[in-house]
Amino acid sequence: MKMGKKIIFWILVSFALIQFFPIDRTNIPVDSAKNFVDARKTPEKIATLIKNACYDCHSNETVYPKYAFIAPISWSVKSHVNEGREHLNFSTWETYNKDLKENMLTKAVQTIQNKTMPMPGYIVYHRDANLSDAERALLIQYFEEMLKTKTY
Ligand code: HEC
Repeated sequence: MKMGKKIIFWILVSFALIQFFPIDRTNIPVDSAKNFVDARKTPEKIATLIKNACYDCHSNETVYPKYAFIAPISWSVKSHVNEGREHLNFSTWETYNKDLKENMLTKAVQTIQNKTMPMPGYIVYHRDANLSDAERALLIQYFEEMLKTKTY
């Protein structure tokens, strides 16, 4: 019993201490000339879907939820955002070359189709990102149209 109490005590102390590791949640300002939805003049309905479903991890306009302020969850959230931006950052879309854009649009279609994006763990807590099949179809159609007409 004494041992158990000690363990719980140290777990609580550790939990309190890890809260002091700072996490950088500042967003880099967005240049609308480079931002996907602005530069491509995405219709508002589609733009809203992309922003709700993808922008938290794939742009510099991340909105951090409350739970993202508690370590160690905050570390996991931040690492998803970093990794997401590394792969695809809609805020800097216009800095991509044609090949990269084509590749990203193709992958976006695939990931939305096979439901690996938005990340399944994320949509549990973000209803707006929990796209219906009809909404997925709209996004896929939009990206495929860009691929077909090479307007990217
Ligand atoms: C909760 C964070 C999160 C959200 C929301 C999210 N993604 Fe991702 N995405 C990631 C991470 C992390 C990676 C990199 C690791 C991986 O491929 O799983 C990634 C990778 C990708 C890739 C690159 C795959 C590759 O092979 O290079 C594409 C394309 C993509 N996401 C599209 C989307 C689209 C489109 C949406 C919205 C419909 C979206 N993602 C929403 C986190 C997210």
